[in-house]
This record gives sequence, structure tokens and C-alpha cells, in this order.
Amino acid sequence: MTKPETPQASADTAHAISLEICFGTSCFLRGAQDLYAELMAYVKNRGIEARTTFTVSFCGEACAKGPVLSVNGRRIEHCTIEKAVQEIEKII
Ligand code: FES
Repeated sequence: MTKPETPQASADTAHAISLEICFGTSCFLRGAQDLYAELMAYVKNRGIEARTTFTVSFCGEACAKGPVLSVNGRRIEHCTIEKAVQEIEKII
């Protein structure tokens, strides 16, 4: 006998947030580290840690447009915390 799927399981992952920040040299010099710290604080204050995944890349080949952040695969160039929050809030 197979176990029935629980709708709750899919609801928990329905609004998963994947944040990929570039920590390549150019993005780093353009403020990626500060952006990362601001994102961490925002995620914590917003109470979305459980469904947020942070990953780091080391060059998204858009160095002159850094810092670069991807939110669920959507790349934001010249990213600021305001731009990042605006994109994340669309998912939430
Ligand atoms: S260093 Fe970030 S895109 Fe190249």
C-alpha cells in the first residue's frame, strides 16, 4: 500500500527563495559583501530563513554590472538591498 502525498509538503516548498550572490573580485569591490550582510539581516527579520537558500558564485560574467544577485534565477545587476527586497517580496 502506498502512502498518500501530503499537500502540506508541496505548500512548504512552493515559495522557496534561492539567493545566489556573486563574490567575484569585481562584485566584491562593488559592495557584494555589504549586500550579503544586508540580505542576511533582511531574511532573518522577515522570518523567511527556513525557505531561503544562499549560494555564492565567483563570477557571473557581468563584472561591470556588479554586485550581481540572482533571486530564483532572475539576475539583478547593480543590485542594492532595495532591488533585492523588491524581487524577494514578489515571491513571498
Ligand atoms: S565578479 Fe561578479 S560577475 Fe564577475
